[in-house]
Amino acid sequence: MNILITGGTGLIGKKLTEMLLEKGHSVSILSRSKKKSDKVQFYTWNIAKQEIEEEAIKQADVIVHLAGANVGEGRWTDKRKKEIIDSRISSGNLLFESVKKHNPSLKAFISSSAIGYYGMVTTDKIFEESDSSGNDFLAKVCEEWEDSALQFNSINIRTAIVRTGVVLDKNEGALAKLLTPIKLGVGSALDSGKQAMPWIHLDDICGIYLYLIENESLSGAFNGVAPSHENNKEFSKTVAEVLGKPFWFPSVPAFALKLLMGEQAVIALEGSRISANKIIESGYNFKFPELKKALTDTLD
Ligand SMILES: NC(=O)c1ccc[n+]([C@@H]2O[C@H](COP(=O)([O-])OP(=O)(O)OC[C@H]3O[C@@H](n4cnc5c(N)ncnc54)[C@H](OP(=O)(O)O)[C@@H]3O)[C@@H](O)[C@H]2O)c1
Repeated sequence: MNILITGGTGLIGKKLTEMLLEKGHSVSILSRSKKKSDKVQFYTWNIAKQEIEEEAIKQADVIVHLAGANVGEGRWTDKRKKEIIDSRISSGNLLFESVKKHNPSLKAFISSSAIGYYGMVTTDKIFEESDSSGNDFLAKVCEEWEDSALQFNSINIRTAIVRTGVVLDKNEGALAKLLTPIKLGVGSALDSGKQAMPWIHLDDICGIYLYLIENESLSGAFNGVAPSHENNKEFSKTVAEVLGKPFWFPSVPAFALKLLMGEQAVIALEGSRISANKIIESGYNFKFPELKKALTDTLD
């Protein structure tokens, strides 16, 4: 199949591209800037101007919508919040209008969302896909993001959504940020350390996208997290163990993170457990269901 990936130049998109090519699919990428590659075809779009290269849409069998300004980068000023929203939702709306016009027989639209959908709270609850969304900024972003994807249902296009947890990578994202103090031997928990840290190995998040692309019977929302549950302290302690580093420093107080990160500190300070049951029951087999093995592979 021809798979068009928006934001295909990012962490998930690059790995997913590799996996799709290995399986014999062809891949094209919708990006804000034209790039050259002998393996994939690049197309461009301008979300603010609602412009898109028509051919990108016309040639696609399936669209995977990964584009989005990084939520973990830069302070959440009003301008940044608008960018976080527009890059996901205005882009989703642009894709919808363009598919309606140029490719109404598209086979599937698969969109990223995030576990922030459930709200950034620390509770004993294990959230499932049927739970309602939260009330904070990220929850509202995810809700609107998913609504813009679900428009595709109205024109009978199979739609699936992946509520993604923290994707393990040593160079980017939450794990990369935790690595520096741990490598220096001063790793510690954040605040109480009890906030859950739903994570997923890069191979598995891409494996789930591949599974949803290829299984035509699957639609709706799926949590993209590993089945094991660790809180922030257990997670960081396991990272230290894998790296052979000590882990005894006093925890970083909440006020320090709030001072440093502003409203965005909620990402580090809150978190509930998220269930992986639905994707497992739908037949997906995790390559890295356990944290220690997932970290060992990632940090190798
Ligand atoms: N990685 C995680 O831990 C994680 C967790 C939860 C959810 N997610 C979601 O999964 C999706 C993919 O994640 P990722 O880690 O691969 O993201 P990423 O590495 O940050 O890449 C996202 C891509 O989106 C495009 N993009 C960035 N800013 C944009 C903007 N202002 N307007 C339009 N496009 C923009 C970029 O592509 P171009 O420069 O080529 O346009 C970029 O390569 C994202 O929507 C992310 O929010 C990721």
